[in-house]
Amino acid sequence: MINKELFIEHRIIMTPGPVEADPRVLRAMTHPIIGQFDPDFLKIMDQTMIMGREIFQTKNKWTYAIVGTARSGMEAILFSIIKPNEKVYVPIFGRFGHLIAEIAKRAQGNVHTSEKPLGEVYSFEELKREIDTFTPKVVAIVHGESSTGMMQPLEELGRYCRKKNIILVVDNVATLAGAPFYTDEWCIDAVASGSQKCLAMPAGLSLITYNERVEKIIMERQKIEQGLDITSQNEDMILTNYLDLSQLQEYWGEKRLNHHTEATSMLYALYEAYRLTLQEGLAERIARHALNKKALMAGLKAMGLSTFGDLNHQMPTISCVNIPKGADDAQIRDDLVKHYNIEIAPGFGSLKGKVWRIGALGYSSRKQNILIFLGALETLLLYHHVDIKPGKAVFAALDVYHQAT
Ligand SMILES: Cc1ncc(COP(=O)(O)O)c(C=O)c1O
Repeated sequence: MINKELFIEHRIIMTPGPVEADPRVLRAMTHPIIGQFDPDFLKIMDQTMIMGREIFQTKNKWTYAIVGTARSGMEAILFSIIKPNEKVYVPIFGRFGHLIAEIAKRAQGNVHTSEKPLGEVYSFEELKREIDTFTPKVVAIVHGESSTGMMQPLEELGRYCRKKNIILVVDNVATLAGAPFYTDEWCIDAVASGSQKCLAMPAGLSLITYNERVEKIIMERQKIEQGLDITSQNEDMILTNYLDLSQLQEYWGEKRLNHHTEATSMLYALYEAYRLTLQEGLAERIARHALNKKALMAGLKAMGLSTFGDLNHQMPTISCVNIPKGADDAQIRDDLVKHYNIEIAPGFGSLKGKVWRIGALGYSSRKQNILIFLGALETLLLYHHVDIKPGKAVFAALDVYHQAT
C-alpha cells in the first residue's frame, strides 16, 4: 500500500514554465468549493474579467478563462473562427509557431506557413509580403517564442491586418504580465495566454480575450448543445464542443449557459494572481522582469557565455544561452537540481544540446533566484573544468541591481 504522505521539496524554477507559483496564489486555491452558479462565485468570475482587461490592456468584453493549459486558448480561438478551407497564415519562428500551424490544420484551415531561422524574428516587410501573396482571412503568430527566447514586434503587423480586414490572433503565453503587450493599441483581435508563466499560477487555465470582430464570426456559428436547447441548429457549427467559444461566452456572459463544470479552485487562483499583478502594478511587474533579465544577462556575459539569437529582440522573460564548449548539457542541468534544487530547461529540436533556456518569470523572477543561479552555474561549470571566467558573474549581476536602486 502506498501510504507515504506527499512531500515536494521546494525548487528554484528557472525554466520557461511551469514556474514557481506565488504562495498567495496557492493559498487562494485552498478556499472551500462553492457551486459554479453561486452568486459569490459568479462575482469572482466577473471580477477576473475586469482585472483581465487591465492586464491584457483591452476594453474587450470577452476576456475570460478557459479550463485547460495555454494551448487550449489558442485551440478554442482557432477552432471557433476558422471554417473548413479558410485561409490561415502562420509565420513560424520556433516550436510554438509550429504548434499554432498544427492546431489551425486540425481546425481544417487552409494553412500557409513561413519559417525564420531559429533565433530570428520577422521584419514587417517579410510578413507583409506573405500576407499580400497568400491573402489570408486569419494570421496567427507567437509574441514571445519560449523555444528561442525571441520576441516578435507586432504593432505594424496589427495595423496592417486591421487595414486588410484580416483577423490577427496572438499567443502571448510567455509574455503576458512580463513584457509590454497592448491588445487594443496593437490592433490584435484575439489573444491566448497561459497561467503558469508570468502570472505565477499552476498550469491549467488559458486566459483569452477577443473583440467584436471575432465575436461576430463565432456567434454566426453558434450551436447550443442539444440537451440544453433542442431547437439549436447550425450548418457552420464550431467543430469542438469543449472549446466552443460561442457557448463558453454564454457561460461567462449574462445568460450563464450551463457548459462545462468550472475548475473552481483555479478560478480562485486566477483571481488572486490577477489581484497580485495589479497590486504590484502591471508596469512595475514588467519592469521587474526587465531588471532581472538585465542582471541575468550581465552575469552570463561576465562568465564568458554568449546569448543565442538576435540581441535586439530578446524576451525579457526567457533567455537562451549557448552551452559553452566542454559543458555536458544534461550533466550540468542534473547537477543544478541535485545540488542546488535549481531547474533550467534544455533546448527543443535542433537546439537540443546547443542552448539552455533560462526563465525568470512571475514569482520566479526574483533577485535572489538570479544571484543564486549565477553562483551555482559558475561553480558547476568550473567544477566540470569548463573554460569560463571565474569570479565575475555574481558581481556583474550585483552591479546591475545596485545601479537600479
Ligand atoms: C509561447 C508558448 N505557447 C504555447 C505554449 C503551450 O502551453 P501549454 O503547454 O500550457 O499548453 C507554451 C508552453 O510552454 C509556450 O511557451
